[in-house]
Amino acid sequence: MDLNNTAQMKEYDPKNMLNQVYSLPELIEVLLSRDFTIPSHIKTDKFEVSYVEKPNSIIICGMGGSAVSGDYVKVIFPLQIPVTVIRNYNLPKFVGKDTLVCLVSYSGNTEETLSCLLLALEKGCPVVGISSGGYITRFFEENSLPHFEIPGGFQPRAAFPLIFLALVKIFQSFDMISLQGTAIDELLYNLRDIRDQCRPDVNLPENSAKNTAMNLFQKIPVIWAPYGCVANRIKCQFNENSKMLAISEELPELNHNHIVGWEGYEKNDYPFLVLAIRFPTEHQYVRLRFEISKRIVSPKCELIEVHGKGVHLLSQLLSVTYLFDFISIYLAMLNHKDPSTVSSIDYLKRELEERKQTQSKVIEALQRLS
Ligand code: F6R
Repeated sequence: MDLNNTAQMKEYDPKNMLNQVYSLPELIEVLLSRDFTIPSHIKTDKFEVSYVEKPNSIIICGMGGSAVSGDYVKVIFPLQIPVTVIRNYNLPKFVGKDTLVCLVSYSGNTEETLSCLLLALEKGCPVVGISSGGYITRFFEENSLPHFEIPGGFQPRAAFPLIFLALVKIFQSFDMISLQGTAIDELLYNLRDIRDQCRPDVNLPENSAKNTAMNLFQKIPVIWAPYGCVANRIKCQFNENSKMLAISEELPELNHNHIVGWEGYEKNDYPFLVLAIRFPTEHQYVRLRFEISKRIVSPKCELIEVHGKGVHLLSQLLSVTYLFDFISIYLAMLNHKDPSTVSSIDYLKRELEERKQTQSKVIEALQRLS
């Protein structure tokens, strides 16, 4: 596979995920200009929710590519109130009428997220939906509940920045955060800069995303980052886009467990490659920990450093995330895999539905509330 041959690249990316990723900066601009308002009160025959008071906690429910945006919002916009990301069927016990529950599902049909919606309504929580269609869109529209519609036609994971900004807009509409114009300008500038450097018609060796993908070919990526959400997102992109396993670790935590694991390996036992994701905002002691950790691991394994760009945390985290969207797609092509397909996820969803009608049962229960 030749990453300088655009015809060959298209063959391995028939649904054109590269183009989806390419289009993001402009879509981000459109989404940022959108108004989003929250109603004060919704009352139907079956449930009643109030949006008047400021919430005293926030729950973000979602799975996979839809859930990661919740992790990023928590880090980039720290709030005075607790924010919890739930990747499961149930809500925590503390959830009540003062808890804002955001239901995030790109497809709008993920059963774990639908199950949380049902429980949230039963508890009288103010709910907000984010989806591009499916049952969530239908339910929120039918019941006049606040819903942020994301553009369709993407793989959920490719739409990550759009889902992230939808959450930001929702938090803004509750006056919980403010988004500075300079931070947005910096973000858009850096995303476009990365795109210009990594676009498919920029050849090796100039294209840094293609270079990193070549370095990672037939390796096992071990991702270290001082923000766990970034390490996890990159791992998930390698899993879902590139169809390969990867390890994600956060600093300083990895210094208390993962680092000891390396004692069991000699040089070249396994084809690991450490990706150290660095940020100007990392804690000074974390900086030192990176240096010492590198010294421990470098006799056994190759290590590449990649840096988040910008002054604002928003740009630092999203720019490096965007770079790895490109890298993971190029790596999929090198692996002769289509970056868009997720056959195992589709199989699991089908099997669950066939064996226990898991999704249909949740939808039936929601229909009774509708
Ligand atoms: C698929 C992907 C998955 C989905 C997950 C939940 O592109 O990224 O991780 O995000 O299966 O589905 P949605 O996002 O539709 O709720």
